[in-house]
Amino acid sequence: MLKADDQSVTYRELGPADESALIEFLVRNNDPATTRHFNPFPMTAKGAAAVIRTMPLDHYYGGILAGQIVAIGMLRGWSEGYSIPSFGLIVDARIRGRGIGRALTRFTLDRAADFGVDTIRLSVYASNKQALALYRSLEFEEQSRATIGEGAQSDEKIIMTKSIAAVNLPANTPPRGFIPVATPALVGKEREYVLDCLDSNWISSNGKYIGRFETSFAEFCGVQHSLACCNGTVALHLALLGLGIGPGDEVLVPTLTYIASANAVTYCGAKPVFVDSEPDTWNIEPAALEAAIGPRTKAILVVHLYGHPANMDPILAVARNHGLAVVEDAAEAHGAEYKGKRVGSLGDVATFSFYGNKVITTGEGGMVATNDPALAERMLVLRGQGQDLKRRYWFPIVGYNYRMTNIEAAIGLAQLEKIDWHLSRRRQHAKQYQARLGNQPGLVLSPERPWARNAYWMNCAVLPTDLTVTRDEVMQQLQLRGVETRPFFYPMHVLPPYKPAAQNGKFPVADRLAAWGLNLPSSALLTENEIDYVCDSLLEILNGSRT
Ligand SMILES: Cc1ncc(COP(=O)(O)O)c(C=O)c1O
Repeated sequence: MLKADDQSVTYRELGPADESALIEFLVRNNDPATTRHFNPFPMTAKGAAAVIRTMPLDHYYGGILAGQIVAIGMLRGWSEGYSIPSFGLIVDARIRGRGIGRALTRFTLDRAADFGVDTIRLSVYASNKQALALYRSLEFEEQSRATIGEGAQSDEKIIMTKSIAAVNLPANTPPRGFIPVATPALVGKEREYVLDCLDSNWISSNGKYIGRFETSFAEFCGVQHSLACCNGTVALHLALLGLGIGPGDEVLVPTLTYIASANAVTYCGAKPVFVDSEPDTWNIEPAALEAAIGPRTKAILVVHLYGHPANMDPILAVARNHGLAVVEDAAEAHGAEYKGKRVGSLGDVATFSFYGNKVITTGEGGMVATNDPALAERMLVLRGQGQDLKRRYWFPIVGYNYRMTNIEAAIGLAQLEKIDWHLSRRRQHAKQYQARLGNQPGLVLSPERPWARNAYWMNCAVLPTDLTVTRDEVMQQLQLRGVETRPFFYPMHVLPPYKPAAQNGKFPVADRLAAWGLNLPSSALLTENEIDYVCDSLLEILNGSRT
């Protein structure tokens, strides 16, 4: 069957219907017995299925001979957003040497060019001489080499890149080829301040930028104290420990959040108890709190999801009635306001993240903010390994090394100096999305309640449920047009660590949002043209998918 000549090979994109053939192909061709070169990762069927499942936004192309996949070309790496897309090729050992790999490589690179990609990258092992020769003849250029493995089991991994000319661009090509969902926007003195750290040798977790960043951030939030730490997750851990949350305690957490909110509770030995979402803010449902409170409940952890503040007054009223602490997880909402007050100043303690995709970033980083001096001091001690503040190397408790570096704080300060710019760009973008998409039947965009000012960390769209396609298919079609999106988070009650304890809970609002919600490109650097392109693409897909 595989003896037919090359003329009878066709090339096409592989889709969901090809999944089992693709898994079978991956397993067969990753078997060390059939691969001629170093293969550190022989693949099982389960592994191959996982590769396919975790990469729904990548593109697989097949060389098809007599109905069988005989070669695959892969374009990957777009899901990460900012990386250069990478190319991979696997050719069935039985048909090697007939030019099918070369033809499929050309076919796949043309598709990448169709999406407006301008540089493509691949890795190849030095012992795979035929592949190396193929890539060289296709003008891939060597960028680096690294030895992988040891002794006879070792090989050299070579990274190559190639610029690809944009050919056959569709009429409405995305303006800069690929529109990522989020990118940092380093538009202030980041470089100057970081160089100052390097030039002055203050690169660790002491130095002037840490104090300056903390003080400015506290001022920005309208609180007395803030402490910088290594990320938003440990900020939550510090906040909960500072409040005395420990084993046996329960903390109410919205089920629709990023897993860090629940994990931080678990780190304390306490149990997160999940609460459904409010339909018009997507945040913790105040009306569902009472029913979730038990004798061990110690705190409510609210999350200002995707930049919109939680409905604080009724939440604070329930907390007061039951003597509960309130933690604001404001990782996604720097600068958002509730009734004219900035988030971070609304509960007992608040936490922020400065991960690279956040409203402002330090690369990795976090902050805790509070008006309570005793709590601030407890968190300061916990952040510094538990060391007594007056007695060096005296550790009355077990603490953590959760400090931020001066370099990160330098970036953070520069970002904070420009936060008005960041927020106004985001607001402007949200307005444009609203103007272009706001009147689509059944399509719900990021909310902004009359009492709220959304920070618009993510511009969100919850799709109509009467489409002929799923949310993930809409995302795939956007990806094909060069538009990166992200699905809403899985709610905590469906995730393996938390599903058993949440078994009897019903979370209909969160379930619906999680199934139909997606994040549209939301970087502060987006241009008007790019947002127009995203909206045109989404409208085209929606209009073609109405029942
Ligand atoms: C709601 C929420 N909480 C906590 C975090 C954790 O922050 P980090 O990634 O900086 O640890 C994040 C995001 O990353 C988040 O979105």
